[in-house]
Amino acid sequence: MDKLLIALDVPSGGEALQLADTLRGSVGGFKIGNQLFTAEGPVIVRTLAAKGDRVFLDLKFHDIPNTVASAVAAATSLGAWMINVHAAGGLKMMQAAAETARRTAAAEGRPAPRMIAVTVLTSMSGEALAQTGVSGAVIEQVSRLAKLAQHAGLDGVVASPQETSVIRALCGDAFEIVTPGIRGGSASTTKNDQERTMSPGEAIAAGASYIVVGRPVIAAPDPRKAAERIAEEIRSAQN
Ligand code: C5P
Repeated sequence: MDKLLIALDVPSGGEALQLADTLRGSVGGFKIGNQLFTAEGPVIVRTLAAKGDRVFLDLKFHDIPNTVASAVAAATSLGAWMINVHAAGGLKMMQAAAETARRTAAAEGRPAPRMIAVTVLTSMSGEALAQTGVSGAVIEQVSRLAKLAQHAGLDGVVASPQETSVIRALCGDAFEIVTPGIRGGSASTTKNDQERTMSPGEAIAAGASYIVVGRPVIAAPDPRKAAERIAEEIRSAQN
């Protein structure tokens, strides 16, 4: 199921590779975040990419344009399929990221990675956002940054389930929306630290291009079965 991305939120490369072996063929790709990448380094990305897996490198780059562009070039050369940056880094930073991804991929003869922006972290409340000097509702800032990302030539954004339909309406059908915070339905109902959740089918119906699922799959007694159940719910929601 192409639309189902699994967060490999585990502490070691060995565990990540084992999970990937278990899930390969039933899911659309694997997300590698700061924990695993900091612990194990780029070899885990190279290894999965060499096995043909789609790797979403979730390192949320946020720096001056030249530094972000260099990091994106390195991630592209590793074979990442999807890379993200913080939209708060601004238009020039995102343009540099998008252009470098395309240029690096073309020079190496590989498909360009999807470039995705994080708008407002879902851990930020309106109050937390105000403390950083941004007034107004969270969804206004999310919408503003999603439009800016689109204007910069990025392929899409990461968005909470509650933001998905607003962004879909604002940015059109071709814009990719990657949605974590998936619980309920065929996914586990244990919320962990997720607050505003939707089931896999609800998220797809709201306009998600991809859903990111971690613990409901990786902590399940049978991860492959858990992934297959979620894939089935996605398929039903698409019909
Ligand atoms: O285990 P769970 O399904 O909650 O994992 C969701 C994944 O998506 C985690 O890797 C988490 O860091 C990530 N994520 C999120 N909310 C965001 C952005 C990323 O849950 N807004």
